Amino acid sequence: MTDAVRTLISKAMADVPDVQPAEAFAPSNIALSKYWGKRDKARNLPLNSSISISLGDLGSHTSVALSPTDKDEVTLDGETLDPDSAFAARTLGFVDMFRGDKHLPLLVQTRNTIPTAAGLASSASGFAALTQALCAAFDLSLSGTDMSRIARLGSGSATRSLWHGFVKWSKGEAEDGSDSHGIKLDHRWDNLRIAIIPVDKGIKPQSSRDGMNHSARTSPLFPTWPAQAEKDCAFIETAILERNFDALGPRVEANALAMHATMIAARPPLAYLTEKSWSVLANLWNARDNGLSAFATMDAGPNVKLVFEENSTSDVLSVFPEAQVISPFSDHAQAPS
Ligand code: PMV
Repeated sequence: MTDAVRTLISKAMADVPDVQPAEAFAPSNIALSKYWGKRDKARNLPLNSSISISLGDLGSHTSVALSPTDKDEVTLDGETLDPDSAFAARTLGFVDMFRGDKHLPLLVQTRNTIPTAAGLASSASGFAALTQALCAAFDLSLSGTDMSRIARLGSGSATRSLWHGFVKWSKGEAEDGSDSHGIKLDHRWDNLRIAIIPVDKGIKPQSSRDGMNHSARTSPLFPTWPAQAEKDCAFIETAILERNFDALGPRVEANALAMHATMIAARPPLAYLTEKSWSVLANLWNARDNGLSAFATMDAGPNVKLVFEENSTSDVLSVFPEAQVISPFSDHAQAPS
């Protein structure tokens, strides 16, 4: 646990923590300008700022309670996991920030409404929901900003999953990470749409954590990435504030492709995009030549996400009938976080 977060949690916690059953929901988010590369690996501090859009009711429901047995138990989508599995180990490592070395066996249950580990950012919603559930279970009243700082230690992108709508993760400058947290942008864009084009729901070959470290270490294209990504983030923030889709769409796609270019140039190369992902992109670019106004973004997995405005929905669906269309600003997607 890093110093700033230890102080945050211990200041808020009574001497002998008591655990009450608690549950929380956090939305998944898709970065419109990406986080890819850390300036501090232990604290998950990014080299550049990023901006995301949350995915409404697609995310993680997580509950925390005292375990009915004397052992920790972690479940995912109703299935009890081997405590040594990667998911359980990461979850329990995170839980230890709250219970320290006290003997408090916990039952942590997560239900995802998005496929886990397919590049649809379930670690983002997972650690944000786990942070909120743990704060409630240990009766800590912390602000969204403080919870965002804590969630960051589970997964960088979780920093942005504490809120609905647009969220900026300001990279910050402080060595202890205290100024590196999510900031909700108070701008709605009601007719903005996201579509998920499912390519593969399987587990991705390499975690984003390993993938970004490998790119930073070995890719000759990486050195120019952080400065360009910072510019993209500022440009995309302005496009959001001005609700200018003609500015937003192309820059979102360019930013994602530049991130993937750093990976493809890594040694050995790292390719999250599969033949099917490229064929989705080829169809999109072909449709764009014929007037479609939709742009792609891809994360550390093969699935392609599209960004467009409501009036393009039927055109998107006619090119991609398998698309799952999300309205990030619809009422059901705006439950308080
Ligand atoms: O939060 P992580 O460590 O899974 O990294 C997320 C990286 C990307 O999804 C590719 C980009 C982003 O900003 O979400």
